[in-house]
This record gives sequence, structure tokens and C-alpha cells, in this order.
Amino acid sequence: MLILYQALYIVIVLSLSNARHKTVKHRIVIDYSELAGEAESNKENILKFLNETRVQRKYKSLFNSLLNKLTNSTRRIVSGVNTSIAAVPWQVSLREKTYPICGGSVITDLWLLTAAHCLLRPQASDLSVRLGSSWKTHGGEMYDVKEAYVHPQYARNTKVNDVGLIKLYSPLRFSAKVLPIGMIEKKARLLADRNAIVSGWGRLREGGPSATFLQSSTVMTIAMKLCRNSGLDRNPIDPVSMFCAGSFIQPSPDACHGDSGGPLVSDGVLIGVVSWGLGCARGNFPGVYTRLSSPVIWDWIHGHIMKT
Ligand SMILES: *[C@@H]1O[C@H](CO)[C@@H](O)[C@H](O)[C@H]1NC(C)=O
Ligand SMILES: *[C@@H]1O[C@H](CO)[C@@H](O)[C@H](O)[C@H]1NC(C)=O
Ligand SMILES: *[C@@H]1O[C@H](CO)[C@@H](O)[C@H](O)[C@H]1NC(C)=O
Repeated sequence: MLILYQALYIVIVLSLSNARHKTVKHRIVIDYSELAGEAESNKENILKFLNETRVQRKYKSLFNSLLNKLTNSTRRIVSGVNTSIAAVPWQVSLREKTYPICGGSVITDLWLLTAAHCLLRPQASDLSVRLGSSWKTHGGEMYDVKEAYVHPQYARNTKVNDVGLIKLYSPLRFSAKVLPIGMIEKKARLLADRNAIVSGWGRLREGGPSATFLQSSTVMTIAMKLCRNSGLDRNPIDPVSMFCAGSFIQPSPDACHGDSGGPLVSDGVLIGVVSWGLGCARGNFPGVYTRLSSPVIWDWIHGHIMKT
């Protein structure tokens, strides 16, 4: 995630005593604790819970307040700001032998979503995840991975269907820092020019160091036609299993190496997985995300997560 506004001091915190912080500027408070309590007591049927209209409204409203605060803090699209895990509590840090390799998202108490290309090399027994921490190297809790699955129609050369699933040994305990996010509905149309938030600990700029503190950026979904006409694309963009988000402004917010597998959230639902790009935040080439509403992808994910 690029940081354009190094000088900008934004702290996103979960605070149970909002009043105390009212005078602090640029402090963004997103409080998922109430939702987390409800999710924890509805854990037995978490997918049904996440699909309730009332619950989706809450996610949407919390998403909008985060978006509003990210956008207002700079009066334009934000490019990578320090973000508390409490603002994006579904964010996962995926590790291979403790080394961080990718991002991911909590989608149930037992299943995490990531990109297929993050799971090609490591064995499940070499993988672990850190949840509930804003820091890449400490805090939160580490969990071993029981099983890892790559989408059977993922193709390494074309990167189509770049999605993977991770199963944990035992159910997570939800909290304001570890919370699942609902997924976009099957076949739902993705509209262009919609605000979305991408997060991760990836590189702060192309070829640069990776973030130690969680970063998030607002990006816009981009019409397929516009994306396919964007310059420099050697890999064709498959409209069935991919979509684009970013900005054609340079320098622009984007996901970067190390953010792969991480969440792209819009209107409080997970719409995409960070998949690939050409370099990072080159103004003429947006980021490419796995299209979760694609039936081939959606059915495969739900086939796994609904079994248990
Ligand atoms: C983000 O957090 C890191 C680690 O605490 C800190 O070094 C950096 O100054 C922060 N950046 C901003 C813009 O607040
Ligand atoms: C979510 O609820 C809607 C009705 O509100 C239903 O049509 C849809 O099938 C449900 N999706 C899942 C995954 O259960
Ligand atoms: C963000 O800015 C808009 C327009 O200036 C304003 O209406 C809104 O209340 C602001 N939101 C926050 C959280 O400050």
C-alpha cells in the first residue's frame, strides 16, 4: 500500500470510551464490538447471520463511516494509511513458517479466504495465520492451518479463478478484532465507480519495504472496458473471474506485493481478493481482483464452507 501522505497522522482505534478522544484530530474510531458479540453468539449458523438484512445494514453503516473518515481525512482518495485491525477485523496475515506471505479474510469461524497463488508452494503444515493484530510481526493470535485448498480451475499462466481457502483446526472466538465478513451474493453485478477499501501489510511502494503496521486505501471499482483498455497489460483481464479497482490518477492508491489474497470490501461486503497488477500504483494500470460473485468461484467457496 502506498503512503502518499507521510505527514498525515491518522490513528484508527477501537475505543470503548469515545468521549475521551473527541478532541483528537484525525483519530478514526470504528467499533465492531457489538456486532462481534452478536456474531459470537450466532456462531453455529454464521453464514445465516451474515446474510441477515439487519446485520448487513450494520456492516454497511460501519463501512460507510470508515470510508467517510478515510476520505475526509485527506479530502481526496486516500493512499495507504495506518489502520487499526479494529477497523477491518476480518483481515488475516498468512504466514509460511512464520514469514508473512499474503493477506486473507475471515469468512466464517473456521474458514479463511485468500488467493490461490498464495497457496501454491507451501504445504498446509507450513502455514499459519495471525489474527487480531494491526502489527505484522506481533500481537493478536497465531493459528495453525489444518487444510488449504486452491480453486480447481485456477490457472497459473492466466491467473483465472485466483482464490484459495484455508481451514483452521478449531473455531475462532470472534471479537472486535477478529470478525468474519459477509461475501457478495452470487452473480451480483459489480457496478463501476464504487468506493471500496483494500487492506494489507504489503509493500509501501513498488520495490519498497513492506508495511509493519496495517495499511488501508480507498479505491474505486473500474468498468471492465476501461480496465481492458488500460496500458501495459500483458495478461489479459478475464471479465468472468476478475475485475479492476484503483485509480488512473498517478500516484494512485493500489495494492502491492504482499497484499495478495487480502480483502477488497465495498458496502460492507467482501467483493474481491487482491490478485495481481503490473507493478504497483502505476497510474495507467489499476489493481486486478478476483471476482467473488462469479458462480464458478462463489459455488466452490460455499461448497466448502457450508459443509461444516
Ligand atoms: C504508521 O505507523 C508506523 C508504525 O507505528 C509509524 O512508524 C508511522 O510513522 C505511522 N505513519 C503515520 C503516517 O502515522
Ligand atoms: C441470503 O438471503 C437472501 C434473501 O434475503 C437469499 O435469497 C440468499 O439465497 C441468501 N444467501 C445465502 C448465501 O444464504
Ligand atoms: C465528511 O465530509 C462530508 C462533506 O464535507 C460531511 O458531510 C461529513 O459529515 C464528513 N464526515 C465526517 C465523518 O467527518
